[in-house]
Amino acid sequence: MSLTCFDYARSHRDKFLEELKDFLRIPSVSTQVEHRSDMIRAAVWVRDQLLATGFPRAEVMPTRGHPIIYAEWLAAGPNKPTVLIYGHYDVQPPDPLELWHTPPFEPTIVDDSLFARGAADDKGQVFIHIKAIEAFQQTAGAPPVNIKMIIEGEEEIGSPSLDPFIREHKDLLRADVALISDSHILGKELPTIVYALRGMAYVEVEVTGPAGDLHSGIYGGAVHNPVNALCAMIAKLQDEQGRILIPGFYDKVRDLEPEERAEMAKIPFDREVWLAEAGVIREWGEPGYSIIERTTARPTLDVNGIWGGYIQPGAKTVLPSKAYAKISMRLVPDQSHEEISRLIADYFQKIAPPAVSVEVRDLHGGEGAMVRRDSAEMAAAFRAYAAAFGREPIFMREGGSIPVVAAFQKVLGIDTILMGFGLPDDNLHAPNEKFSVSNFHRGIQTSMYFLTNLAEL
Ligand code: BES
Ligand code: ZN
Repeated sequence: MSLTCFDYARSHRDKFLEELKDFLRIPSVSTQVEHRSDMIRAAVWVRDQLLATGFPRAEVMPTRGHPIIYAEWLAAGPNKPTVLIYGHYDVQPPDPLELWHTPPFEPTIVDDSLFARGAADDKGQVFIHIKAIEAFQQTAGAPPVNIKMIIEGEEEIGSPSLDPFIREHKDLLRADVALISDSHILGKELPTIVYALRGMAYVEVEVTGPAGDLHSGIYGGAVHNPVNALCAMIAKLQDEQGRILIPGFYDKVRDLEPEERAEMAKIPFDREVWLAEAGVIREWGEPGYSIIERTTARPTLDVNGIWGGYIQPGAKTVLPSKAYAKISMRLVPDQSHEEISRLIADYFQKIAPPAVSVEVRDLHGGEGAMVRRDSAEMAAAFRAYAAAFGREPIFMREGGSIPVVAAFQKVLGIDTILMGFGLPDDNLHAPNEKFSVSNFHRGIQTSMYFLTNLAEL
């Protein structure tokens, strides 16, 4: 009997892991200029992997920012579907370093966890598909469907170069369906398919009081402190229970249908475990919505950072000139990030106390998305998870954002299969990020089943 791709993947587990570790050793932090050369190194590394895997075409394509890798392997021919696989090779900064138990760029396996920055988000998940394709190449000569790959290096900074790239290369990227592994499943034995993502509007606020810092004894009481003013304005953005007070904010929010709420109520969820994972004593948020609804299907507003005045050790009596805040809002399908950014900017001007001035700058944004659940491709993904995990997947909305999904819908006219393999406690964007080794291998199996199923459509 000839060797199948599944046999190959099983007997090359250690090799796959060692290669993934090489990828994780490259500190490709997109937001920090000192890592520019690491970004190039990571892009070249991915391209070389794809070439070694048999892709006849794999290129590092320049953008105004970090390069995009594009690859294609169209060996299956025009009668077979074409899948566009998207992922990102950039990672979040590892800070705060002192909270890591092992160095972030020295991948370390402890039991079933591979610890490293980018292990789950998203290097380990992109690598799943590269290894699935390798298994086809080694056993059948080529993947069973046509493959296009687009791996970007700016996902963690809002993908500024990606939209223009997609628009410019519409024909190159034409495909029947997109595939992204950059989300998570509910548990090792709870495969999950994501069908909706939240969008994002991200702004920075700058408040100016006096022209320069002042002595708070000499001027305090008669000059409005911009830090105080900023805090007062922030307090007007949301009520105590999390309802956002910006006029018009909820106008486009699509209400949850009773059927969907009923389905969401059936998703396995343990409040105590959730509280422990989050490290909080109790939940908070909009009355009338469950924790799952609040975190996936309702919009939010969070201050990500706030600064101004004196923040070094000890006391300094100063009445500062400036105050700043970074504010992000998670949006739900139908809310436009441009409109929301405008609404919050207008609102700040309206509530600004007369003695200070406020500037609201747009940092980045992306639309949320909802994909069809009744497509043949979705059925192929459903069967793939069931085969690899021995259990039917759960459908779920995701609270995080992958703005490219909306861009693929709008520009290329295709839906995305969100085939995640992370776990809720993978510590994305935090110290001790990890990826489950067994999910990695099951992910490769799922990918192989999925591509096989697609070829049979
Ligand atoms: N992998 C995440 C998206 C994600 C987060 C999926 C949590 C599932 C669960 C992705 O890399 C990410 O972090 N995206 C950013 C996008 C933002 C910068 C527009 C996010 O959600 O903060
Ligand atoms: Zn991320």
